[in-house]
Amino acid sequence: MESKIKDLNKKLAEAYLGGGEKRIEKQHANKKLTARERVLYLLDEGSFEEIGALVTHRTKDFGMDKQQFYGDGVVTGYGTVSGRLIYVFAQDFTVFGGSLSETHAEKICKVMDLAVKVGAPIIGLNDSGGARIQEGVRSLGGYADIFYRNVQASGVIPQLSAIMGPCAGGAVYSPAMTDFTLMVQDTSYMFVTGPNVVKTVTNENVTSEELGGASAHSTKSGVAHITSTNDVECLEDIKKLLSYLPQNNTEKAKDLPFQLEDEIREELNQIIPDNANKPYDMHSVISGIIDEDSFYEIHKDYAENIIVGFARLGGKSIGIVANQPMFLAGVLDVNSAKKAARFVRFCDAFNIPLLVLEDVPGFLPGTDQEWNGIIVHGAKLLYAFSEATVPRVTVITRKAYGGAYDVMNSKHIGADMNYAWPSAEIAVMGAKGAAEIIFKKEIDAAVDKEAKLKEKEAEYAELFANPYSAAERGFIDEVILPETTRRKLIKAFAMLEDKQVDKPKRKHGNIPL
Ligand code: HXC
Repeated sequence: MESKIKDLNKKLAEAYLGGGEKRIEKQHANKKLTARERVLYLLDEGSFEEIGALVTHRTKDFGMDKQQFYGDGVVTGYGTVSGRLIYVFAQDFTVFGGSLSETHAEKICKVMDLAVKVGAPIIGLNDSGGARIQEGVRSLGGYADIFYRNVQASGVIPQLSAIMGPCAGGAVYSPAMTDFTLMVQDTSYMFVTGPNVVKTVTNENVTSEELGGASAHSTKSGVAHITSTNDVECLEDIKKLLSYLPQNNTEKAKDLPFQLEDEIREELNQIIPDNANKPYDMHSVISGIIDEDSFYEIHKDYAENIIVGFARLGGKSIGIVANQPMFLAGVLDVNSAKKAARFVRFCDAFNIPLLVLEDVPGFLPGTDQEWNGIIVHGAKLLYAFSEATVPRVTVITRKAYGGAYDVMNSKHIGADMNYAWPSAEIAVMGAKGAAEIIFKKEIDAAVDKEAKLKEKEAEYAELFANPYSAAERGFIDEVILPETTRRKLIKAFAMLEDKQVDKPKRKHGNIPL
């Protein structure tokens, strides 16, 4: 027995070394933790249980039978994060560049299958040169096995992907099909085709970083939901994100302890500027409403005209969607509609109630928007809200104009409670634009056109630039003082806690993609 134990320990020690000391040093020199270090940092101390540490690949071509590393380039298993069960896989760049072989894929599929069967989140830490080139189609098949599982698990368990090194070719599609993609600044990149192919096909000169680094994907493409400055911060971000999520789609996120007090926040009375065309930062409304320092913003640097993120309100995990008057006056456009729609659908899939803070002057006009399909992308957000069955509450802080009023979680598309501040303006469009159209003849005929326009603008504003016409019809449940918003919302979400909606049977809806 003694020699057998020694033999096992020797094998495990080899497995724990991955591709060996030299390659580990290189990994560290590149400012990256190893796969095993990442897993151990992510999970609670002593909680990691590895699965498949002694797996090896089965390839004999290209002398591969002489190159064997236990684990085959991916560390897989389970453990806990803040006491909650989590499944994890971490690609080991020190073994064949973390490239994906048939057996490497089998290991990932095994933990994915377990995660779905048990109902716990799966975290993928990606750091890979892509398909194991020596394996050809067997590697491609392995990828497809993972993609298929990503889709089957979608909406069943939370799936998070951290990109902590290269992620290229078709490999990018697994993260893309998970719920959230985190990228590490300067050390990670994602692209379907790399700079060399780009140069050959389009004659563009572009670096990996420019093409698919964290900055490109968090500001331009929206592929990355969260950017972290280094590996440790990325792992902390995963833990933080998990703290707002339930284990699976049959559960709710755990409440934090909370005791209702007066919850009055007078500072909320001071936020809306006197001039309706002046911007203000919607973040100050958010922080005036939620539990202290609990906002975790998603897609922070992408489509900044809309804010999405998780927060705690009265101890409960909620998702917030808020127009941001500081950027493009808070209009809805292609990117903001896509960003918000995806977030709404995630929250709905995982029983996270939705709070909408609305100050929206409408949809962004122009050929760029129309030709890029604002009709179909705006429809995504309309669809996402309309199908959501989680508790849904809206607060209109200022503008709620035109179609955007309908889209932004209006009563008509199924919101449960709709509040407005006295500063709300709920109308087809702004008073000036409206006056110019409906009083055109009168204005044209007037001697002082400017004065006439002003007069008619005031007339329209008096009638519609307020929340009362909507409140009279019950489209707004209550016009509230800003200072009472936090209290109202805590009570509304508590009241909606047991909301249930039964929907007619169907295979799936046909969201405009
Ligand atoms: C096998 C690979 C590998 C791969 C890297 N390695 N990529 N082995 N298959 N795909 C090995 C290297 O041989 C090397 O082995 C070690 O990993 C580290 O690689 P380096 O090149 O030394 O590292 P670095 O300079 O940091 O460059 C990293 C890299 C580069 C940019 C990722 O290795 C690279 O370009 N690799 C090929 C990428 C690629 O074309 N992959 C296929 C994409 S197509 P040693 O023994 O020296 O340590 C694809 C299709 C997926 O993935 C489709 C899914 C549907």
